[in-house]
Amino acid sequence: MSNIELYHGDCLEVMDTLIAMGVKVDAIITDPPYLLETEGAGFFGKKSDEYSMNYKGKKAYTYGGERYVMQEINSMKDGISEETLEKLCKIMKKINIYFFCSQKQLPILYKFFVEKKGCNWNLLCWHKTNPIPACGNKYLSDSEYIMFFREKGVKIYGNFDTKFTYYVTKSNMEDKKKYGHPTIKPLNIVENFVINSTNEGDTVLDPFMGSGTTGVACKRLNRNFIGIELDDKYFQIAKERINAA
Ligand SMILES: C[S@@+](CC[C@H](N)C(=O)[O-])C[C@H]1O[C@@H](n2cnc3c(N)ncnc32)[C@H](O)[C@@H]1O
Repeated sequence: MSNIELYHGDCLEVMDTLIAMGVKVDAIITDPPYLLETEGAGFFGKKSDEYSMNYKGKKAYTYGGERYVMQEINSMKDGISEETLEKLCKIMKKINIYFFCSQKQLPILYKFFVEKKGCNWNLLCWHKTNPIPACGNKYLSDSEYIMFFREKGVKIYGNFDTKFTYYVTKSNMEDKKKYGHPTIKPLNIVENFVINSTNEGDTVLDPFMGSGTTGVACKRLNRNFIGIELDDKYFQIAKERINAA
């Protein structure tokens, strides 16, 4: 049995409260809003049927028969700030953290966790075989990265089947449709991170929970989970999805 705590709110505020209560987690597995090359700030796609094509002057694109527009996330306009990273460190017993991230976020995270905090690190990759076919004067956006940082003394578990550094799958359109989150991540990848970096009964935090993929992985693997999500709709989706797991 795992203990699941879900918070609807801004993760910076919720984490302040948790830290003040003395909460410490064993690991963080998270997927913050990305810094996308095209826009240079924290954006993610929303189905265009919710917004007009010119929603706040943002671009729209079509993919897999669906149209998406880029929507700005006000609370994380500058991507991941040093203040946020320090807070994440404060809430972990020892630094043990996975970040899904864009290419643009790699140097920011490397500087903070390796150069400033002296962590060991791994660069993992999720290669998508069905990328958005936009490649005018640039390479395809067919890879997402996962940076893993751990403080000295933090153990890795798992086995040959869970320790791949490179995943090749389709972007999961079925899950996107089923759970309605545009950047939902593959459950099997997240489950491997849970297995590799925690034990049964440990507690994992995802401060940018989205549709709750990390929570589902934790529930299936008997880990405790703390999830935080700002958006009303995604919070409800995550709650139902984790309850059903
Ligand atoms: C990239 S998505 C996460 C998707 C998730 N990994 C999944 O599989 O569904 C990032 C999420 O962070 C949420 N978010 C953005 N700013 C936030 C904040 N300040 N506090 C909590 N959640 C936030 C967004 O609403 C979005 O759902």
